Amino acid sequence: MPCGRITGTGSGLPERVMTNADMEKLVDTSDQWIRERTGITQRHIASDEETTSSLAETAARNALSAAGLEPGDLDMIVMGTTTPDQLFPNAAVLLQSRLGIGGIPAFTLEAACTSFLYALSVADKFIRCGEARRILVVGAEKLSPLVDWTDRSTCVLFGDGAGAVVLEADDEPGVIATRLHADGQYRDLLYFPAGVGRNFPRVSDSRIQMKGNEVFRVAVKSLGEASRAILEDQGIGRDDIDWFIPHQANVRIIHATARKLDMPAERIVISVDQHGNTSAASIPLALDLAVRDGRIQRGQLLLMTSFGAGFTWGAALVRM
Ligand code: ACO
Repeated sequence: MPCGRITGTGSGLPERVMTNADMEKLVDTSDQWIRERTGITQRHIASDEETTSSLAETAARNALSAAGLEPGDLDMIVMGTTTPDQLFPNAAVLLQSRLGIGGIPAFTLEAACTSFLYALSVADKFIRCGEARRILVVGAEKLSPLVDWTDRSTCVLFGDGAGAVVLEADDEPGVIATRLHADGQYRDLLYFPAGVGRNFPRVSDSRIQMKGNEVFRVAVKSLGEASRAILEDQGIGRDDIDWFIPHQANVRIIHATARKLDMPAERIVISVDQHGNTSAASIPLALDLAVRDGRIQRGQLLLMTSFGAGFTWGAALVRM
């Protein structure tokens, strides 16, 4: 049975970089506090013209080029995002139109920061059942309009961006396994308070709400458990993992999770320092960074794990 193998990765980041010094001008914070508590030094913030689908287009074109493919070679687009340009058409269809291809299925999944792992898992299933052979899988977000730029406890955390991978059918894995979870009992710890069915007229003046300490605690527990479970399921030891690519929300969450797994620091890919928390884009952006700087090599084994609002969480084992 074929399974999905990543043959190209790509990033799309807004031009504007906001440093911690820029944040100091907005709210009562300091570079030292942000670095010590989160590990973040800068984040990219989209302009009015840059949208989730425009950032996704850049990431997609870079991933296609790395895979040696043209947009017309694709037979499906699966996109994870919490911040589509508009409610409909869905963001993957807008991306499809930007890429100048029509006719193939294109759809969007929303599982907050875990959206990319959900999208990767679903795309891999389409390949395994023989319904697709070349799928573009994207995680993209423009979170900045949802951020309260007067709330120092959240505004320093988030950034905009997109990451993409091309998943191609291959007899050798590839995506070895994925595990997905969700538990809505935690819905009030991290949420956006407006939508079609709730506070609809107030969508544009609502902002992300978060109980940071509680999110932190559950995140470390869930990321650790999902990672350990997928390793046990597959009979793979921690020492077999070449690179650990966790969701990039906070460097302290990453290190606390790695300690639970006994994962050495030199095998962790970290990009939260440069990108902040880009939600669905965080794992594919970190992956692309480490592929392009030569750390991640063909044949290596990756453990990815993510956590987001809901809560949603999950893990993936991927052979490059
Ligand atoms: N600058 C300076 N001081 C600050 C800032 C800031 N930007 N933000 C908060 N503080 C202050 C608080 O007001 C508080 O002051 P007080 O003691 O006088 O009341 C003090 O710092 C400590 O605040 P805490 O909230 O306890 O700080 P903590 O160490 O928990 O760090 C943080 C806060 C960074 C938000 C942390 O809880 C965290 O990272 N939580 C997880 C958040 C997260 O990752 N969310 C998303 C995950 S899921 C997803 O990606 C969608």
